[in-house]
Amino acid sequence: MENDYSPNIAFIRDITQETSNTNTYTLEPYDKIMKKKFSYTPGQFIMLSIFGIGEAAISISSDPSNNGFINTTIRNVGNVTNAIFRLKKGDLIGIRGPYGIGWPLDKAENRDILIIAGGMGLAPLRGVINHIKNNRDKYGHLEIIYGARTPGDMIFTYEYDDWKKIMDSTIHLTVDAVPYGIKWDYRIGLVTSCFPGMKTHPRNAIAFVCGPEIMMRYVAKCLENIGFNDDQIYISLERRMKCGIGKCGHCQIGQKYVCKDGPVFQYSDIKKFIRPL
Ligand SMILES: Cc1cc2nc3c(=O)[nH]c(=O)nc-3n(C[C@H](O)[C@H](O)[C@H](O)COP(=O)(O)OP(=O)(O)OC[C@H]3O[C@@H](n4cnc5c(N)ncnc54)[C@H](O)[C@@H]3O)c2cc1C
Ligand code: FES
Repeated sequence: MENDYSPNIAFIRDITQETSNTNTYTLEPYDKIMKKKFSYTPGQFIMLSIFGIGEAAISISSDPSNNGFINTTIRNVGNVTNAIFRLKKGDLIGIRGPYGIGWPLDKAENRDILIIAGGMGLAPLRGVINHIKNNRDKYGHLEIIYGARTPGDMIFTYEYDDWKKIMDSTIHLTVDAVPYGIKWDYRIGLVTSCFPGMKTHPRNAIAFVCGPEIMMRYVAKCLENIGFNDDQIYISLERRMKCGIGKCGHCQIGQKYVCKDGPVFQYSDIKKFIRPL
């Protein structure tokens, strides 16, 4: 009988340092059939495991046209992520998934797309941006607003020049603060401080938002204020996970399981379950 919890094995093929405590890992499934069949939508997640330590839910940060290689971008915060940070290129890691519901790329077709990310929240949205870049004619204007605490906390900095060259797109970068002596040519302020300069009009637009929950609630409120309906806003929620497949109830929020019904939710479906401002 098949065991839903048995992980497959993947090689760590590459490690890119993003910030002082965040790395992007390129994984290649050991099993050739799994590598060929592994398909996903940006916004879905995998459970990564270290034998004898445990598992952590981690978003897939690549876009699906990555030839069977899977990117995950991980911040070193606790037991499992700390053990992952001790691994090197060529080491093996446990992987199961992909799980959950990702960003609704089908609903975004022929519409303007507004991406708003804070900190690590850019990880599950990187695949969306690169998917749009590779399928440019299917989508309308692309606007990216990305904020982090300081310039040193920004991830995927090596991709911004490419993203700026995406046809019919706008990118805003902002930080809360700039440490003394650091050069910063962009905005200082919260992501919502970019709203007055935003090009996207709510008519025929869809917004994908990911970041700390407090930031997402403020952003959703500001989007509502400028005319977005709740069904035009999608947010990705993070809750403690155990099984990742809708069996243990750890990630329950209202009547929904974040692992199975999310992590990406239409704001109108989830609004009443998250703390109001
Ligand atoms: C859908 C989804 C996608 C995610 N994607 C990413 C990603 O792309 N990259 C990434 O780095 N992380 C991601 N995370 C977060 C990641 O799963 C957690 O940070 C993970 O728990 C880290 O595991 P750990 O064993 O290293 O940390 P832990 O040892 O579990 O500790 C992590 C932090 O959580 C606190 N904590 C521990 N137990 C609890 C508890 N029961 N309740 C509340 N807080 C607790 C600890 O104090 C510590 O601050 C995602 C989570 C979800 C649900
Ligand atoms: S993590 Fe077990 S039900 Fe979601």
